[in-house]
Amino acid sequence: MKVLGIETSCDETGIAIYDDQQGILAEALYSQIALHAEYGGVVPELASRDHVRRIIPLIDEVMKQAHCQPDDIGGIAYTSGPGLMGALMVGAAVGRSLAWTWKCPSIGVHHMEGHLLAPMLEDQPPEFPFLALLVSGGHTLLVDVSGIGQYKIIGESLDDAVGEAFDKTAKMLGLAYPGGPIIAKLALEGRDGRYKFPRPMVNRPGLDMSFSGLKTFVLNTWAKSDKSEQTKADVAFAFQEAVVDTLAIKCKRALKETGHQRLVIAGGVSANERLRERLTELAQSTSTTSLTVFYPRMQFCTDNGAMIAFAGLQRLIAGETDGEGFSTTPRWPLGDLKAPGA
Ligand code: KG4
Ligand code: ZN
Repeated sequence: MKVLGIETSCDETGIAIYDDQQGILAEALYSQIALHAEYGGVVPELASRDHVRRIIPLIDEVMKQAHCQPDDIGGIAYTSGPGLMGALMVGAAVGRSLAWTWKCPSIGVHHMEGHLLAPMLEDQPPEFPFLALLVSGGHTLLVDVSGIGQYKIIGESLDDAVGEAFDKTAKMLGLAYPGGPIIAKLALEGRDGRYKFPRPMVNRPGLDMSFSGLKTFVLNTWAKSDKSEQTKADVAFAFQEAVVDTLAIKCKRALKETGHQRLVIAGGVSANERLRERLTELAQSTSTTSLTVFYPRMQFCTDNGAMIAFAGLQRLIAGETDGEGFSTTPRWPLGDLKAPGA
């Protein structure tokens, strides 16, 4: 079965075709980063309008790349939440209308389930059960995963998501949006030992996290500094170390609690090289030698259509469909999902 995947939950129009026999047949992405850059963050109305402009040409491009005719498509999967209401509506309306025209079923997909399953697009996919750390611009979740749709949230950020903390920190330092990759690059020039930022909530029991205090710490440090380029890099370094260390400590704790030996990292921040390095260290440390860490390839860490096609396929083959109508769910807890077909 070939599934057309449509992702429009935020500032990326991502389209892909996934085949259950052959894997990814084609994919295309249009990022709106340049459009939102001058505002320092995503402007929802501009995002929706740009999805409207890009979505049909991208679908055409992907259909051509995959040498597919409408009859070849067995189902359409689109992100129906969580995300920006107007942006979600574009993907949902186009996805559902195409399914009606092409006489195939369609399914609304949970964006974070897409991220969570993205490592399964790789050659060595993780087996269930596993622990997942989902780190994106809107979510920071530790999830005990026993199967597709069987997600128990065991830890989360009580305030800012990790990606959001990267973005806000970058803004305070006068850097562009999205801040994650920019901070990561700048941190390479930073010096170890100049600043040490707190690791929030690691001394308290439990798996919840908090990143807004760390952001304030950065703000105060920066305000009192000489504001030189070297200082900026030193702050970026200390911030990234604090975030990465906190995530690694919480993962270690969650692995101990659940007994899982597989750890899946996904979402935009999973592209962070320092986080990957730190979790590799964790897997090599004596207490967790049997641990294997799984990531999506770099281009599938951030938003994309392939992860939505893949997640949708799992539900379509179990007989789940939207029926005639469609709806979007801008706020949608991941823990509310059920196993496909249940
Ligand atoms: O998953 P994603 O593309 O969109 C959401 O679902 O939110 O994640 C975007 C987030 C942004 O906050 C961005 O700054 C962050 O992922 N990000 C990174 C890196 N690449 C993207 N954060 C840290 N290091 C990176 N290399
Ligand atoms: Zn995302």
